[in-house]
Amino acid sequence: MEFKNLLVELSEGVALLTINRPKALNALNEETLNELEIAFAALADNDQAKCVILTGSGEKAFVAGADISAMQPMQATRAREFAKLGHRVMNTIEKLPKPVIAAVNGFALGGGCELALACDIRLAGENARFGQPEVNLGVIPGFGGTQRLSRLVGKGRAQELIFTGDMIDAQEAVRIGLANRAVPLSELLPTATEMAKKIAGKGLLAVGLAKEAVNNGYDMDQDRAGQYEADLFGLCFATEDQKEGMQAFLEKRPAKFTGK
Ligand code: CAA
Repeated sequence: MEFKNLLVELSEGVALLTINRPKALNALNEETLNELEIAFAALADNDQAKCVILTGSGEKAFVAGADISAMQPMQATRAREFAKLGHRVMNTIEKLPKPVIAAVNGFALGGGCELALACDIRLAGENARFGQPEVNLGVIPGFGGTQRLSRLVGKGRAQELIFTGDMIDAQEAVRIGLANRAVPLSELLPTATEMAKKIAGKGLLAVGLAKEAVNNGYDMDQDRAGQYEADLFGLCFATEDQKEGMQAFLEKRPAKFTGK
């Protein structure tokens, strides 16, 4: 896959997707959002990609937000379309039937924080800075931040970040549950890759169904979510991976999953 603003590498079941506009701190313009949508759709269909790592190029930023110079002249209806495009990308990531790990290697602000929030797991380099500074620009988060941030860290903490526009560092992000783990920057990609390879070695269908159960069940009431989980649990028994996983356990050998 060739893109103008993205790099995609695939190795040992792990796709590394790098947003590559370092001069603009990887800010998300329409072109980059379109490319992200195409790249994730292609990764969804690629059986070789079992887990995805998303990161930013350069040494300063994961993604410093939606592109302010592109947004500045927008009229209301155009801005609404832009936000809808952002939402489509975030939803594509959230619904991807394989895990996506954000390796946050610097600023993750505004749309960049929202992009990290749409991923399943967030690993923070020690230079990571998270924030929703949209109010500094006279706007509100537009790619899902008002919803995903409060679901992840709680309403009060989300409101504090969104109302003040403050940035928080990697340690604070871990403390409030925004990031899973903070690591030295030099260990960020190796840690993400190690985690991605571990996940890639599991039954991919089961991992995908687990993602679906967690994400789709999250906003259901507990009864419905439990029913939904039971349905997906049952569905696992239609897969070869379930037969192999349980047979391998009983035969005391490692399972060889095929993703079928
Ligand atoms: N959009 C467009 N360009 C951006 C950008 C953005 N979000 N963030 C940084 N850049 C550009 C800068 O304009 C600058 O370009 P030039 O070299 O051509 O001047 C370049 O990237 C480097 O940035 P700085 O010189 O500002 O770097 P710094 O180290 O001094 O500061 C920063 C870094 C604190 C991240 C600062 O760049 C900044 O505050 N950026 C904006 C962050 C922001 O407000 N993000 C939210 C955007 S709104 C949004 O995302 C809405 C939504 O929810 C959909």
